[in-house]
Amino acid sequence: MIDALKRKGIILAGGKGTRLSPITLGVSKQLVPIYNKPMIYYPLTTLMWAGITEFLIISMPDDITYFKRLLGNGSKFGITIEYASQEKPNGLAQAFVIGADFIGESNVALALGDNLFHGQELVSKLRMANSRKVGATIFAYQVKDPKRYGVVEFNKEGKVISIEEKPENPKGNHAVVGLYYYPNSVVNIAKKITPSKRGELEITSINNEYLKRGELEVEIMGQGFTWLDAGTNESLIEASNYIKTIEARQGLKVACLEIIAYKMGYISKVQLLELAKLHGNSSYGEYLIQRSKEF
Ligand code: G1P
Repeated sequence: MIDALKRKGIILAGGKGTRLSPITLGVSKQLVPIYNKPMIYYPLTTLMWAGITEFLIISMPDDITYFKRLLGNGSKFGITIEYASQEKPNGLAQAFVIGADFIGESNVALALGDNLFHGQELVSKLRMANSRKVGATIFAYQVKDPKRYGVVEFNKEGKVISIEEKPENPKGNHAVVGLYYYPNSVVNIAKKITPSKRGELEITSINNEYLKRGELEVEIMGQGFTWLDAGTNESLIEASNYIKTIEARQGLKVACLEIIAYKMGYISKVQLLELAKLHGNSSYGEYLIQRSKEF
């Protein structure tokens, strides 16, 4: 088993999801489905694959009830899940201030609740970042529309020169993805940063602080990886179609919480079959029963 005792996981599922209105008038964005499961399953399982077992989910106060109804305290998946609220969307960096007590003395990984990662080498990349004892690790991914993201500028030697948040004139086409690995020092850094021009405590300010300290590792997620975010109607349907296509072709489900909990050794086969019962006669429940026969 992987030694991830020293790294906890935060999933930021806050914000009003206004770009998905009217869907998000009644439900948190991160509970909206990507194809056949709630959006939050994707970042949660990403961190689980990396060996993290202790989680904090941060959402708008009214939404916590619904995340709890879905995931409980995590025990049925062999993990722990705590909850905290972000009253206003004050920026991603606030996650480390809200989560300071939860983080305690640990290192921490932050995953954004609407980000989806997929690819053969993903697990080994995450585990590498997870086991790094010093400094921060972030990931960069080539995109056509870098303006929407944090953008990394590399020099000819591949060294990182700058990171800019949603620049008018991007100095490159590598976006910073919504998955961040930090040492414990991130809590103090987050407490000290000030709001940007758009009034948010930016994760990019944290990354720039680590860059300044010479403690930032930027790993490229190359063409063999898929990174999608699902904050708009178009990106939501694109992500759903992507998952549908892959799952139909392989007959395997992506981000299947129960199977991953079993494969990571967090739950037994008996517990897996118990979980299958919760899904009644849905195809998801049938899938869990079917897969469990292979184990
Ligand atoms: C945030 C970050 C940005 C990052 C992006 C990834 O953007 O600020 O640096 O590239 O997530 O999804 P936001 O979701 O606030 O637009």
